[in-house]
Amino acid sequence: MIPAESTEMTSGNGADRSVCVIGLGYVGLPIAVRAVERGYSVSGVDLDERKISLINEGKSPIEDKTLSEELPKFPFEATADPTVISNADIILICVPTPVDDLYNPDLGPVRGAVSMIAKHARKGSLVVLESTVNPGVSEEVISPMLTEAGFSVGTDIHLAHCPERINPGDAKWSVKNIPRVVGSTSAEGLDRAVAFYGSIVDGEIRPMKSIREAEAVKIVENSFRDINIAFVNELAKSFDQLGIDVKDVIQGAATKPFSFMPHFPSCGVGGHCIPVDPYYLIERAKQSGFDHRFLKLAREINNSMPSYTVELLQDTLNELEKPLKGTRIGVLGLAYKPNIDDLRESPAEDVIHELRRHGAVVTTFDPHVPRLSDVSSLDELLDRSDALVLATAHKEFLDEITPQRLADAGITAFVDGQNAFDRDAMRAAGIAYKGIGR
Ligand SMILES: NC(=O)c1ccc[n+]([C@@H]2O[C@H](COP(=O)([O-])OP(=O)(O)OC[C@H]3O[C@@H](n4cnc5c(N)ncnc54)[C@H](O)[C@@H]3O)[C@@H](O)[C@H]2O)c1
Repeated sequence: MIPAESTEMTSGNGADRSVCVIGLGYVGLPIAVRAVERGYSVSGVDLDERKISLINEGKSPIEDKTLSEELPKFPFEATADPTVISNADIILICVPTPVDDLYNPDLGPVRGAVSMIAKHARKGSLVVLESTVNPGVSEEVISPMLTEAGFSVGTDIHLAHCPERINPGDAKWSVKNIPRVVGSTSAEGLDRAVAFYGSIVDGEIRPMKSIREAEAVKIVENSFRDINIAFVNELAKSFDQLGIDVKDVIQGAATKPFSFMPHFPSCGVGGHCIPVDPYYLIERAKQSGFDHRFLKLAREINNSMPSYTVELLQDTLNELEKPLKGTRIGVLGLAYKPNIDDLRESPAEDVIHELRRHGAVVTTFDPHVPRLSDVSSLDELLDRSDALVLATAHKEFLDEITPQRLADAGITAFVDGQNAFDRDAMRAAGIAYKGIGR
């Protein structure tokens, strides 16, 4: 095995030596850095001038310990100039695939990246889509755009898909070791993509029979998560009525050593993947006459959790004979998951919106997102709050919040949207505590 610190060319087939990454975010930046580490000549294209400047100064635009350490060691040139694409043997598309306000897939960024490639790629290059898309995008959207630009796809340009599975903030699994699947429209494209990822990842690279299968893999993974989370969110609502602690029950069920995988309820599902990707499949299947009822229901349940969380707070305050309207509510956390600064699709935003809609006086604090926080410390938040909602279980909150500290600060009600605190200890301190389903 090649040592991780090796900077020798490790390309699988030896011919592909230069890489251009389009889109330098959570997905594109780590693979660009890894490709430099593995000896490739790398350039990066993005539209965001701030990101480009930071990357060229060796600073990660994303809060990520590994990237902050590795970017200065394995630098590459980032630019807004798409002509660098013409120097690349391999072009990786790592741009966002969001949905619009009506949950319709927005392929605008993918089309934008492909337009650049169509103009600037040289013959013989391999284009790999890493962004998450529904089955069909490579063949129905990307391939026709390249054909229209005069390329013969599968002959003088190759097209592959290798969906990224990176989990930002995960210390164990990274671009270096997460196994990958690859599909292509041509045998040569598949061979070259498998060889490239084999030189990047210390893990299995699984060739798929078609590019559509590779596209479907990623959507299935994230839809699986969404459905399982929806199931436990529904259980949480049911067990709230039945007086059963859903967290205890799931932990009990998880003692079964086979055929059960624990998922836990919360105030909502966030991030650029799980609450977005299922809509790509729902929409594409609809065009082919299939109605994904199960996926739609899962999305509906998970989307309902922020307002359910606010209902729980309202009920808890009612028991204390306090209205939500006019009460000072502190929201702990803005990011969509712990210990990172990513706000995309964060349920905290919907919780805050619902609270304000009900007339609550909201103050927010997230130590990872100081620029959008109303206050700059936990003490300040507690000073300005009568009740709390935990939206993100950041380590700082888990370390610094104790039942006694909340009681001393005069907090009377606490809705724990991540079931992160000890319910009994909170109640023993005189705080009206409510978890999601417990
Ligand atoms: N974030 C994750 O955890 C994750 C994990 C696996 C897969 N994905 C998928 O990877 C893709 C990228 O996600 P991300 O989280 O890296 O997004 P991101 O927003 O962090 O980064 C995307 C970058 O692309 C740039 N960009 C947009 N349009 C462009 C264009 N036309 N040309 C050049 N640059 C352009 C943006 O400025 C941004 O810097 C998405 O399809 C996402 O679903 C994300």
